[in-house]
Amino acid sequence: MKIGNIELNSRVILGPMAGVTSLPYREFMKEFGVGLSYSEMISDCGISYKNKKTERYCETSKIDRPVGLQIFGSDLRMALNAIEWLEKNEEYDILDLNFGCPVQKVTKTGAGSAWLRRPEEMFEYVRSIVKASSKPVTAKIRLGWDENSINCEHVAHLLDEAGVSMITIHCRTTKQGYSGSARYEEIKGLGERLNAPLCVSGDIFTVEDAKKAMEITKASYVMVARGSLGNPRLITNINRMINGEELLPEPTLNESIEYAKTFSKKMIEYFGERTAIMQLRGLLPHFFKGFPGYKKVRAEISQHLDNSDTLFKMLDSIQNRQHL
Ligand SMILES: Cc1cc2nc3c(=O)[nH]c(=O)nc-3n(C[C@H](O)[C@H](O)[C@H](O)COP(=O)(O)O)c2cc1C
Repeated sequence: MKIGNIELNSRVILGPMAGVTSLPYREFMKEFGVGLSYSEMISDCGISYKNKKTERYCETSKIDRPVGLQIFGSDLRMALNAIEWLEKNEEYDILDLNFGCPVQKVTKTGAGSAWLRRPEEMFEYVRSIVKASSKPVTAKIRLGWDENSINCEHVAHLLDEAGVSMITIHCRTTKQGYSGSARYEEIKGLGERLNAPLCVSGDIFTVEDAKKAMEITKASYVMVARGSLGNPRLITNINRMINGEELLPEPTLNESIEYAKTFSKKMIEYFGERTAIMQLRGLLPHFFKGFPGYKKVRAEISQHLDNSDTLFKMLDSIQNRQHL
């Protein structure tokens, strides 16, 4: 299992998520069997102008690797500047190009999935980046801009020819955003028609989803994004399914509490208490989905959590009484 010259020990890839897949999130998920992680999308302009916040997004660690840094932009010169800086200053394994972001603020500048509307220009852009980057380059696209312009097969072949080392397809159109369902049938068997390995993304919430997506598309890799939230064991179980091993049971409440504690500690250590707590308000409730009393705990965390003492006291009290 190789992407370019990078050896992976699993076919499960942690998908990039802006505001979520920070370094501590990736480190926490890694031990559950992530073969490769991606940073959230990073602006090539932000890197070129040495924006301090942007530089933080580029940080990696030993535990984190192999890791890909994902950049987005619309101007080749900016991308090349950013790559030059990254290669001098950061430790990473793969450079990923974002051609999938549907957010208007991004697409109106010609970046993200707006590239899908100009495939020939995208080809030249990617070819130049592949030449300039000393690391393998991967690319992430969607099915197409809208229902009338589904062109992912054409784009994937262009990316292949431009020399990318893996192509990820989120099986929705830009117009779909994150609504409706991912449609694996749109890229049925595509994995067998490309030179570069294919990674399938979209609605991977269960082991069965991963199995189905890989079978239909013949993808070599599967990307878990929202499905990883609060449920790191999904990654372990997808690996077990791929290896023909027996699946682990769903985590108990106590196991989920342990996950939540470990994750919180990592976040606080990295971001400091204030910033970590703000992010944990959104991320922690996911660990308790499906347990009776979830809604109450979610409200408590997302509306009232304001320091780490209260957080750990709350987690301890749930652990002691064995229910939410
Ligand atoms: C909050 C959020 C942020 C995301 N940020 C990025 C991003 O920065 N770069 C990217 O390529 N995809 C991004 N995605 C898309 C995911 O990587 C993934 O392709 C998509 O969510 C479909 O997979 P899922 O349905 O299994 O979550 C994001 C998705 C979500 C929900």
